[in-house]
Amino acid sequence: MKSVGSTVLSGLVLAFAVGEAIATGTLEFSLMKQKRADTEPLRRRDAVEDDLIGDFNGQDGVAYYLNVSVGTPGQLQTVQLDTGSSDFYFTASNSSFCDGTPGCAGGTFDPDKSSTFSVLQAGGFNTSFGDGSTDAGDYITDVVQVGDLAITGAVMGLAYQVNSTVGAQTGLMGIGYSINEGVQPGQAPYPNFPESLVGAKAIASRFYSLFLNDISQVGSIIFGGVDTKKYTGNLVTLDFFPTTEDQVTNFIIAVTSIDVSQGGQSQTIYNRPFLVLPDSGSTAFTVPNSLYEAIVKLVNIDDDGTAPCNTIYTDTTFTLNLTGSQDTSTTLSVPLSSMFTPAYTQDGSIAQDPTTGAALCVLQVQPDTSDELGTIGFTTMGDSIMRSGYWAFDLDNGQLSVAQAAINATDSNIVAVDAGPGMLAKAIDQPARDTAPTQTAVVAQTATATVAYSVATAASTAGHATASAKPSKAAGARFGAGEGAAGVGGAAAVVAVAVGMVL
Ligand SMILES: *[C@@H]1O[C@H](CO)[C@@H](O)[C@H](O)[C@H]1NC(C)=O
Ligand SMILES: *[C@@H]1O[C@H](CO)[C@@H](O)[C@H](O)[C@H]1NC(C)=O
Ligand SMILES: *[C@@H]1O[C@H](CO)[C@@H](O)[C@H](O)[C@H]1NC(C)=O
Ligand SMILES: *[C@@H]1O[C@H](CO)[C@@H](O)[C@H](O)[C@H]1NC(C)=O
Ligand SMILES: *[C@@H]1O[C@H](CO)[C@@H](O)[C@H](O)[C@H]1NC(C)=O
Ligand SMILES: *[C@@H]1O[C@H](CO)[C@@H](O)[C@H](O)[C@H]1NC(C)=O
Repeated sequence: MKSVGSTVLSGLVLAFAVGEAIATGTLEFSLMKQKRADTEPLRRRDAVEDDLIGDFNGQDGVAYYLNVSVGTPGQLQTVQLDTGSSDFYFTASNSSFCDGTPGCAGGTFDPDKSSTFSVLQAGGFNTSFGDGSTDAGDYITDVVQVGDLAITGAVMGLAYQVNSTVGAQTGLMGIGYSINEGVQPGQAPYPNFPESLVGAKAIASRFYSLFLNDISQVGSIIFGGVDTKKYTGNLVTLDFFPTTEDQVTNFIIAVTSIDVSQGGQSQTIYNRPFLVLPDSGSTAFTVPNSLYEAIVKLVNIDDDGTAPCNTIYTDTTFTLNLTGSQDTSTTLSVPLSSMFTPAYTQDGSIAQDPTTGAALCVLQVQPDTSDELGTIGFTTMGDSIMRSGYWAFDLDNGQLSVAQAAINATDSNIVAVDAGPGMLAKAIDQPARDTAPTQTAVVAQTATATVAYSVATAASTAGHATASAKPSKAAGARFGAGEGAAGVGGAAAVVAVAVGMVL
């Protein structure tokens, strides 16, 4: 899911947002607060690195964005990263919503200014979100550049009719299963961005890792691999729960219990399982109402969910037991402080306590007021929880591998993960015990491509200072030399081409 922006509560604008999963292969994007000082190249296969932005549009920690370039010449788009949705789309430059307030942020796309643009399906794109936001328009293809990788043949949405109910409209990179795309009823899904990367042989499988990091630091996303320096302990692999008709179509795991440690004392505050979607496109953790009541009792917040930032308890940590459908489980420690984000007023400034003038923060935990299991069978576990973890989404195998994030780590050791069951354990040389493939349900398949892909290495990067490895020579040899993705930041060195099907 996504929600960008803020909602008004008791005179405050409380920011919240929704994210989605992204991953595979060996493209890294830093989720950033500041530029990374240095980056290491990927060891093998194809690699691209880019930054992710955590303080976009004046709001900290509520959503994560990355810069991509679309069209020829490239038009910069700053898009929200969302594991909770599946379309990759931008706002058209002539959308009337952009003329008003809050308008459109992060760039818009003018198809008339791109020489490589083409419409794939006019009126085919139509999506809506839980917050009431809507986006509709055409499915298109054009060159898209992420880091130094330029890919043609990727299908994207171009939204002409947009309405963001919670703040400025931005584009979105939804990286969930393509089966959840906003296609018209009866229409087949198209390969979305992670699937296009696989189709273009830029990465080996639908696999990506997300490291949001501390709210003040640089995070990253790696398509096709993991960074073994960004977590502690072992990655533990959880099988996604099947959603529809015994098929895995979404990133659903369970929270089976929650303990809290406060002032040196530990207690279990909740021990009834509920299903959650780790959603980078949501800021908040939405929890059963009774759990919300239990959490609120332990934290010192006002009725509107805010507290002076300097009064947030630093001695309070929650421990979530995360469990997959085949009973493998792990625990994730989440300090209370990382569950808060700054509170903003409607004019965008930091909200202050009316009596003391202290800056206010808002607890990013929300009650699910419907029932204990949520109206849609699962709740969203947004950035307020995801910041504490390292999350390797393996769409092909229907699994999520989780470890405690190495918050503030600056070292990097990026390892590509091959396609197939058990390849994560192999790549990171970890005992198979924690990463054994056990998924027994059918997993949603990659959509069929209707356009041919080609991949090029661009001379200049989009959204990131440093580039890493080039597309593999092997892929180029196997598929033959192709044409360049013209003009994205001066594209050069084309290596692989045309592995998609033209229908
Ligand atoms: C917006 O631009 C598209 C593509 O150029 C065009 O087809 C459409 O008519 C325009 N819409 C408006 C409202 O100008
Ligand atoms: C998108 O779909 C919704 C729900 O079916 C419909 O009400 C709306 O008119 C559609 N929007 C566009 C622009 O086609
Ligand atoms: C956007 O959606 C809101 C909530 O549904 C509605 O009140 C508003 O009129 C819509 N705005 C536009 C420009 O369509
Ligand atoms: C998580 O909870 C389950 C069910 O209560 C339990 O069997 C398992 O040992 C717990 N896992 C961890 C890592 O504590
Ligand atoms: C990470 O760095 C930030 C900024 O320096 C600091 O506030 C925070 O406490 C650090 N977190 C950890 C877990 O070290
Ligand atoms: C993204 O693009 C914006 C606008 O050009 C720029 O200010 C920002 O530094 C870029 N961020 C990254 C991480 O590339």
